[in-house]
Amino acid sequence: MRILVTSCNGNIGSGLIPKLQALGHELVLTDLTQPVVPTELPFHQVDVQQGFGLEKAVAGCDAIIHLPAWHGIHWQQKTEIDFWRLNVDGLFWSLQAARASGIKRFVFLSSQAWHGHYDKYGFTKRIGEELCEYQRRANGLRYVAVRPADLTPWGSDWVNRYGAKLLYGGVDREDVLDCVVRSVQRLERELDGEPESIVVDALRPNAFTEEQLEGWEADPIGTCERIFPGSAALIEKYGIRIDRRPHVNGSFLGWDEVGYAPSRHFGVFLQELRTLDETDGAAAVLARTCHY
Ligand SMILES: NC(=O)c1ccc[n+]([C@@H]2O[C@H](COP(=O)([O-])OP(=O)(O)OC[C@H]3O[C@@H](n4cnc5c(N)ncnc54)[C@H](O)[C@@H]3O)[C@@H](O)[C@H]2O)c1
Repeated sequence: MRILVTSCNGNIGSGLIPKLQALGHELVLTDLTQPVVPTELPFHQVDVQQGFGLEKAVAGCDAIIHLPAWHGIHWQQKTEIDFWRLNVDGLFWSLQAARASGIKRFVFLSSQAWHGHYDKYGFTKRIGEELCEYQRRANGLRYVAVRPADLTPWGSDWVNRYGAKLLYGGVDREDVLDCVVRSVQRLERELDGEPESIVVDALRPNAFTEEQLEGWEADPIGTCERIFPGSAALIEKYGIRIDRRPHVNGSFLGWDEVGYAPSRHFGVFLQELRTLDETDGAAAVLARTCHY
């Protein structure tokens, strides 16, 4: 397919480009600023808040992946107005461009913030999914709304901001990228009948059951060691904060529909940490920054 990716410079956009190209898709890119990584791909500099230029960019495309938004990491700097203008107006114009160009396939990056819909971020994702649904009912758009958990590590301290987060509310970026790619593949199939709408919870996999978590509050390191043998030494050596009891994800919304099968959990992180520790030593671990 020929796919417009709005915001090629962001965390998800930059990760998606090589994956979609590897699958043979033709890409057209937009962003507010020039590409951070020089590219041969067609690029249009567009402010989605105004929408001017989107129709030109999307001409000849079969699908749009809509990404730009202020999100968790922008919470302090951006106001309610900022959140509305980028997250709601930006999506509105992207959907209008889809409509004007007859595009019927759309992937919208929503968020788990959807659940917190009375805060300045969450409510924009609620409205965003509603805008997609409006276009489905009014104009026959087929869409997937992907709701990732937190995937952008906030700053340095890799072992906690990335690793420990996989016990709590975080998800690995690679799993989110895989979810978006699978959503595109799902929309690629020609389906008869009612245009479909799919919502996918892009969450980390569960590496444990509620039963296995019994006793965590009283003895986190011992309980963790029983689930992930060999973890205690690494947790103590690197000061990984695991005091809070983790939760077992109970929602698998959309997983079967798009074939989402996330693979990166705390145990996978520990394995990576162990390898890095053994091969390169503690200094390399502590210097490690996050994927993005
Ligand atoms: N990163 C996360 O942890 C996370 C979690 C859940 C959901 N999401 C959602 O995923 C999507 C992508 O997130 P990300 O982490 O890649 O974001 P990001 O902050 O890395 O990138 C945002 C992109 O939007 C672009 N942009 C900003 N203003 C623009 C404008 N006026 N017009 C056009 N483009 C503009 C930026 O240049 C940048 O390329 C967002 O919709 C976000 O809400 C992200």
